[in-house]
Amino acid sequence: MSINIAIDGPSAAGKSSVSDILAQKLGYVHLDTGAMYRAVAYLTKVNNVKTDDEDKIVSLIMNNSLSFNQDGRIVLNGEDISEKIRSNEMSMAASDVSKNPKVREALVALQREIARSKGYILDGRDIGTVVLKDAEVKIFLTADPADRALRRVIQNKANNIPADYEQILAEIKERDYQDTHRSVSPLCKAADAIEIDSSKLDKEEVVEKILAIVKTKI
Ligand code: DC
Repeated sequence: MSINIAIDGPSAAGKSSVSDILAQKLGYVHLDTGAMYRAVAYLTKVNNVKTDDEDKIVSLIMNNSLSFNQDGRIVLNGEDISEKIRSNEMSMAASDVSKNPKVREALVALQREIARSKGYILDGRDIGTVVLKDAEVKIFLTADPADRALRRVIQNKANNIPADYEQILAEIKERDYQDTHRSVSPLCKAADAIEIDSSKLDKEEVVEKILAIVKTKI
């Protein structure tokens, strides 16, 4: 029996890499919903649209083709933009566009359309509370901001992205504040989610904890 798994939490808590490993182990599909907000942020940049111009952003979403390929990489109008959306600038811009209620509505509809059957792992900020309220397993993955910043520094260095620790820590705190304080679907733990603090755990240990929870459900 397949189930759906919702993984929410603040930026750089390890949601995406943990979801990738879980998807591989379970034979599930991982949908990185943050990549969708990042792709929309990228669209606003290349089209010179302000990140609070809600109606224009929604028409950008409607008039461009956004999808994932078989390897889970995000494709915009046929182009793989996975690398282009990982910059620090796109992280903040994604958080900015995600404040718009109509933008969220459009992306949540797309996410539900993709994950309409079981066997999906969705990671984001509002999966357990909004997108897949009926997910059988809900995880709230957290870690200290300092640990998250350090991980992002290592990740950025590996990807040739600017990696100044103090700047990344400040950006993480700013994004945490913005994502938890927006008026629509702010980041918060679903009442039925299980919290895992990954500050002192490596990703394999987090995966083992989640697998143990998944096994109780399937
Ligand atoms: O997970 P991420 O860092 O790639 O997400 C980028 C931004 O997108 C994040 O700061 C807030 C927004 N986001 C959201 O509002 N809801 C989601 N389900 C996923 C991401």
